[in-house]
Amino acid sequence: MKICVIGAGYVGLVAALSFAKYKNDVICVDKDVNKVNQLNKGIPTIYEEGLEPLLKKCLEKKYILFTNNIRTAISLSDVIMITVGTPTNPDWSVDISQVIDAANEISISIDKYKVIIIKSTVPVGTHETVKNIFINRGVNENNFDVVSNPEFLREGRALNDFLNGDRMVIGSNSKKAIRIINKIYGPFKTKIIYTNPPTAELIKYASNALLATKISFINEMANLCSKVDANIETLSYGLGLDKRISKEFLNAGIGYGGSCFPKDTKALVNIGEKYGCEFNIVRSTIKVNENQRLKPVEILLDHYNKIEGKTIAILGLTFKPGTDDIRDAPSLYIIDELLSMGAKIKCYDPTVSKEMETLFPNITYCNSIIETVKDSHCAIICTELDEFYKMDLKIIAENMKKPVLIDGRNIIRMKKAKKSGFSHYYSIGNGSFEINDSTIHK
Ligand code: UDX
Repeated sequence: MKICVIGAGYVGLVAALSFAKYKNDVICVDKDVNKVNQLNKGIPTIYEEGLEPLLKKCLEKKYILFTNNIRTAISLSDVIMITVGTPTNPDWSVDISQVIDAANEISISIDKYKVIIIKSTVPVGTHETVKNIFINRGVNENNFDVVSNPEFLREGRALNDFLNGDRMVIGSNSKKAIRIINKIYGPFKTKIIYTNPPTAELIKYASNALLATKISFINEMANLCSKVDANIETLSYGLGLDKRISKEFLNAGIGYGGSCFPKDTKALVNIGEKYGCEFNIVRSTIKVNENQRLKPVEILLDHYNKIEGKTIAILGLTFKPGTDDIRDAPSLYIIDELLSMGAKIKCYDPTVSKEMETLFPNITYCNSIIETVKDSHCAIICTELDEFYKMDLKIIAENMKKPVLIDGRNIIRMKKAKKSGFSHYYSIGNGSFEINDSTIHK
């Protein structure tokens, strides 16, 4: 099968390589010439486990090619997958301009029957919008079908999710298109749900909004646990044993970030409004998360009279482990707030990106945990990286000015922190302590 993937971003690259892995002829198109050149040389443009060897192998076998020549790529392909970005506007509406641009380009080059798959996360009705672009631009209705086929990829596990995810959703009323799609997804071990396009378009938003809601709910429970000496970890475990609830997404912490949850929750509220449907639960989920990601700042304000002049060590910048993605990461909001209060920031993340240095040019980027905590008043764990689980807490405490630890991801045992010489330890609903021993403070 000849497949053209439009947009070599996160989803596009993962999709293109997954199809190439199964020996389809894949052409992946991107406007960015530098990106195209880099990918054709076998150098990944994002960090994702398993991506680099797969990219190299598929290029070597000539199963994949990257280009910026969209028209040729479309005319050579049987299936065209749109995987461009759909950012959320400040008013929470979804910007589908890149999907529309892609549809316009496709309409120019349709010369025989092609299946157009919308993989980008789009508001309900976009399938119809794309179809109308083709019709209004004079494309013969027998020459295309538009299919809604959202993705559910988790960063860090995206290749595995694409090939062996929990489910694949195909929204189409055309038997011909479904036959072709079944062929390309045939080798993947995924349960397929067939439905109409509006249902397919909504499943994606519903899934992300519900997962985000679980996180905000457990974070509110954690905040209560902190006040009444209850333990959120045991509470989550107890909840998760109920199969109707499931244990997934019940880890309390400083909230969710990333490229999907923040934008898709807002988009769902906006989409609902257009149809007169209030999404009050999702609105609250967003509000809870906005407060939760600043929890460490709230703790610090309670702890110190004044944050000005304090040196704060930020451990972990990405929105979760296994990625170099800092989009909407809680760490960004914490750093921003602390800087506005006059704190000095030192930070450490082994995957720290140029993007981060552009966003915050006036903070200190360190190369190790020890360098980061050295002479700082407080350390805040923002991402649950493997090396933070393993770090020697005694050495960390010894190197700090005032050994205060805020564990934003609940990865350090309270007892262990106590034994290691910290004067104060705060978690998110997992306990805290304060040692009134003046010898601890240097
Ligand atoms: C998510 C969805 O899982 C995926 O299906 C969708 O396609 C894209 O959005 P991703 O953004 O990669 O994937 O990350 P995910 O692992 O879901 O975590 C999202 C955020 O929630 C992270 O910031 C993570 O730290 C936070 N989280 C997750 C919690 O705070 N607690 C949890 O229990 C789980």
